[in-house]
Amino acid sequence: MSRLPYTRPTVQRLNAGPVNPFRLGTSPSCSEIDGVSVESLANDFGSPLFVFSEKALREKYREAHRAFSRRYPDVQFAWSYKTNYLNAICHVFHQEGSIAEVVSGFEYEKARGNGIPGNQIIFNGPYKQLHELQRAIDEQAMIQVDNLDELLTITNLAKGRSEPVAIALRVFLSTGDHTVWSKFGFNGDNGEVMQVVRRIIATPQLRLQGLHCHIGTFILEPDFYRIAAKKMVGLALEAESLGAPPIRYLNMGGGFASHARLHLQYLAAEHSTPSLDRYAEAICDTITQLWPAGRTLPKLYLETGRALVDDAGYLISSVVAVKKRHTEASTIHTAMSAYGKGGGAVTIAASSKNALVLDAGVNLLYTATWYQPRILPARPCLDAPTATTVYGCLCMNIDVIREEAPLPSLTTGDRVVMHPVGAYNVTQSMQFITYRPAVVLIGEDQQVHVIKKREDLSYVQELELVPSHLA
Ligand SMILES: Cc1ncc(COP(=O)(O)O)c(C=O)c1O
Repeated sequence: MSRLPYTRPTVQRLNAGPVNPFRLGTSPSCSEIDGVSVESLANDFGSPLFVFSEKALREKYREAHRAFSRRYPDVQFAWSYKTNYLNAICHVFHQEGSIAEVVSGFEYEKARGNGIPGNQIIFNGPYKQLHELQRAIDEQAMIQVDNLDELLTITNLAKGRSEPVAIALRVFLSTGDHTVWSKFGFNGDNGEVMQVVRRIIATPQLRLQGLHCHIGTFILEPDFYRIAAKKMVGLALEAESLGAPPIRYLNMGGGFASHARLHLQYLAAEHSTPSLDRYAEAICDTITQLWPAGRTLPKLYLETGRALVDDAGYLISSVVAVKKRHTEASTIHTAMSAYGKGGGAVTIAASSKNALVLDAGVNLLYTATWYQPRILPARPCLDAPTATTVYGCLCMNIDVIREEAPLPSLTTGDRVVMHPVGAYNVTQSMQFITYRPAVVLIGEDQQVHVIKKREDLSYVQELELVPSHLA
């Protein structure tokens, strides 16, 4: 009996627009940001262009602060500099009441330059240089110790000082399904943290004042914070039972999700991103319930980054070429045939899809590795969206911003808006092949301010030197 050939199942994405007899749809579009026309922004400041909304930054900060402060008496946000350390962005958060969270000497200097006193800086990170630690100690920064080598360095620096140096420990924890970020800090699940606590208690030059954990980033499950908060309270009380002074603060790090969408995420962000209230509830309720009755609750620090800034950031870009993306027909031989047992061959039909080249590359959108930015045309389009490959402008095969974005047919010169891209892209963007673009902030009064100029040749070459024999 002859077998039917195997047919590979395929999943067809439905890019449904409203049904009408002319196959006309209304593709979603984004022609303005905070009331300012995308076209005028691109004309005035160049394309590509990062755009931030001051209104969105402030509203998100206030939403987050409200969510926590209505549930907990002593809350302090610390702006996570690495998420976006453009000074104007930092100033918005500092004006709103945030202190600074930094992970390097460079970021520390930046925060000091932004007027934040040392004792309002939380100093994280796995590598803090000797002179940076010295400065942080002198300025009474909140150092969160990452490893034993750092602890030893701080102990040495603390010798001969009249007062013990107050430190906190970074802790990593298992919180369920989520992969443990064990690169940073001490293990809170296997007793390691308590060994370090004992050592601190036995060192008169040191005083333990807090515990910190940052369980990861883009955590879509608020219950992971419930588990983390429970463990943090347990560790704090255990440390005190060993003889540590009362723990002054718990720092629950960041990690709350923005409205970005992961590559393999099925649900749209509107349906999958938990509200800030849910994170706040998980953390605040757990600590208040488990903290011994009658004792003042520890101060709660939060270092949330992406949830505050991602949704406020856009990248405007222009279509520079319209193409087709061809995929050749191919045949894949299944493993079974390698054993000569009837295996099979799967034929994938040739296809041809719409494709666009934009004037922005993945060097500006580092986060496109994990997330799919929404891409919207900047003008209303009547045709229904179809799956379109969106290439960046770099001469690199890997420069694909979206393998398939639902887009109407666009033409050279059309502008598109990518969103949300406010977290980690400006700080991680690299100068590669092209200049990095300007960044503007739309103020609450709709005035547009350049907060970072576009790079040019002299800026890019500023630090280069040509040895005289090559000149
Ligand atoms: C120590 C620390 N705090 C805060 C953050 C901010 O995280 P997120 O942007 O996910 O809120 C990070 C980022 O990884 C971090 O490493």
